[in-house]
Amino acid sequence: MNRKEKISKLKQEKDTVILAHYYVDGAVQEIADFVGDSYALAKKAAEVTQKNILFAGVSFMGESAKLLNPGKRVYMADASAGCPMADMATAEQVRKVREKYPDAAVVCYVNSTAEVKAQSDVCVTSSNAVKVVGKMKQKQIYFVPDSHLARFVAKKLPEKQFIFHDGYCPTHQEIGRDSLAKAKEKHPGALVLSHPECSEEILELSDYVGSTAEILCFARENSAEEYIIATETGVFYQLEKENPQKKFYPVIPEQICPDMKKITLEKTESVLANLENQQEILLEESVIEQARRPLEQMLKLALS
Ligand code: 13P
Ligand code: SF4
Repeated sequence: MNRKEKISKLKQEKDTVILAHYYVDGAVQEIADFVGDSYALAKKAAEVTQKNILFAGVSFMGESAKLLNPGKRVYMADASAGCPMADMATAEQVRKVREKYPDAAVVCYVNSTAEVKAQSDVCVTSSNAVKVVGKMKQKQIYFVPDSHLARFVAKKLPEKQFIFHDGYCPTHQEIGRDSLAKAKEKHPGALVLSHPECSEEILELSDYVGSTAEILCFARENSAEEYIIATETGVFYQLEKENPQKKFYPVIPEQICPDMKKITLEKTESVLANLENQQEILLEESVIEQARRPLEQMLKLALS
């Protein structure tokens, strides 16, 4: 029996579904039951019927799965894989801003801790942020933690008044204007597709800005032959698989999220085989109660 068949058998025996993000290694994406961007993964997690979810992604993704489907046991392929941006906002900071701006809606990017979600009115992902924030009745929006995504959304919704937090993704922040200029010089015919976690100067120079799934969709549907991709390089696996005749280039080789890269095929297989407690997402009942509301609100507004 080869590895893929062994994993497939284990999934059945353990009644487990494997969900993976586009940033994890191609080998892990290959054995997953579902691969998606943060929004698609949240929607999928809410509806799976298996007893266990094994998440190949970072901790906020596993937490969101647990919040949206608390009856399931959620295990992480590597429980130490976190998101540094999620840790740039605390529940205490959100409480203080709420006191200062009582009329503001607290909108939290899904890349946040369960404790921050518990203090928020609604969650968003990069693929639904403009739509969801646009539907909020409040004029003032406190957007936490990503300052770059917040500015991207604020530009699209000039009727809203934004209060920014100072969080950012270290991986996307690394992608600078000079590097992009060099990449454009090297590949003059290429379109630039960027994730909204990139800084404003990168987004201004891009032909298209979208979530990982939206970047994939754009590349699939566009006739251009070459693309410069400003997001984590894990996405190249699907881009190249879906478009074997097209060429994709990173802006810089360092577009790598160290936490996403902790997730290996070996670890995923080992967690699946043992479903160990130390890899399980465990959240207090009170946190689950409060933190699931903004996620459910996101699904409601994004789907309406
Ligand atoms: P999306 O897949 O939703 O575009 O998110 C990117 C990301 O940073 C996940 O950590
Ligand atoms: Fe967090 Fe950035 Fe890694 Fe996404 S790519 S998990 S935002 S550190």
